[in-house]
Amino acid sequence: MELKKIKEGVYWAGAEDWDRRLFDSLIPLPDGTSYNAYIVKGRDKTALIDTVDPTKAKTLLTFLDSLDKLDYIIAQHAEQDHSGTIPSVLRKFPAAKVVSTPKGKEFLIDLLEISPDAITIVADNDTLDLGGKTLEFLHTPWVHWPETMSTYLREDAVLFTCDLFGSHLASSNIYVEDFAKVREAAKRYYAEVMMPFRATIKKHMERFEKYKVDMIAPSHGPVHREPMCILDSHREWVSDKLSNTVVIPYATMHGSTEALVERLTDSLVEKGVFVERFNTAVTDAGKLAMSLVDAPTVVFGTPTILIGAHPFVMQAAFMVNALRPKVKHTSVIGSFGWGGKAVDQIVTAMAGTKAELIDPVMVKGRPKAGDFENIERLAGEIVKRHKVLGLL
Ligand code: FEO
Repeated sequence: MELKKIKEGVYWAGAEDWDRRLFDSLIPLPDGTSYNAYIVKGRDKTALIDTVDPTKAKTLLTFLDSLDKLDYIIAQHAEQDHSGTIPSVLRKFPAAKVVSTPKGKEFLIDLLEISPDAITIVADNDTLDLGGKTLEFLHTPWVHWPETMSTYLREDAVLFTCDLFGSHLASSNIYVEDFAKVREAAKRYYAEVMMPFRATIKKHMERFEKYKVDMIAPSHGPVHREPMCILDSHREWVSDKLSNTVVIPYATMHGSTEALVERLTDSLVEKGVFVERFNTAVTDAGKLAMSLVDAPTVVFGTPTILIGAHPFVMQAAFMVNALRPKVKHTSVIGSFGWGGKAVDQIVTAMAGTKAELIDPVMVKGRPKAGDFENIERLAGEIVKRHKVLGLL
């Protein structure tokens, strides 16, 4: 296989994973993904930036067959989809030095049992001269692990960002062709992986503004030759901007909760509020995560199983809590027969968001006229709050 040149002396050497449908046994990948590795050849030294998931090791090693030598393996992130093939690369090029942040070194030893002697640590802003190609290492902790860094190739103004600005998208074109499609995949990636680190990413992006960047080369998804597009998208996602939207993750067993969700949806829409509804029994968790990027209000709809919330709704509450979105208000609607712990369970699961709880509407048995009036009241309370936020 021939290396794919992206700049003079700079090559894409990654692997497309067309068939992967799940990441971390959790995150749906409707469009597969790619693991991008890059080779930078200077006059004197050659560096590999990131490797690939071990399931695709053969692809990377075949690319590396074309090299006479490899001096450095830049490990921007120790998660195994980027670092997992480092041991194989070291077996092929035993003299190569692995370059990482100090924290990255710890992880590479713990996760991959790489010899400490093989790892060179770099400080923030340290540089590595390959001979006419200078790599500057920019520590970017918490995107999304504590050890992450980006690498700036000065002479070509390429910013290698590993997971940051990435997208789970397998493509036969290593470059962004249809930005709308890539933006959708990048938003999904941001929502699922990066959203909890919104404030940190904002700071890192402010720092990047001091650098002239002609190309952003992430380690998932296509390479950006027009970096402003992906930078502007991320600026919007990490900003405090909210949309006039209520997200409703729900489950229903015999139709009572669904009837409440229907009424709430209709009432909100009539009042000019957008609604994104997700039946948790069938929904794609990534879509739910994307809806949370700028929604100020989340209302959970749950029937009661035994004495508590439906497990799928609890899973959604757990996810909202973990992803730390911008949500300001929450509520719970649903039904019960004899047990009444559903609201407490959901509120406890959501505690980390510090969202204001608007009075829940829990109904015994099938919803009656008075229950629907309470749903109307809830819609009115949500509208009031959206007006305060200037969304209506
Ligand atoms: Fe793509 Fe955090 O690994």
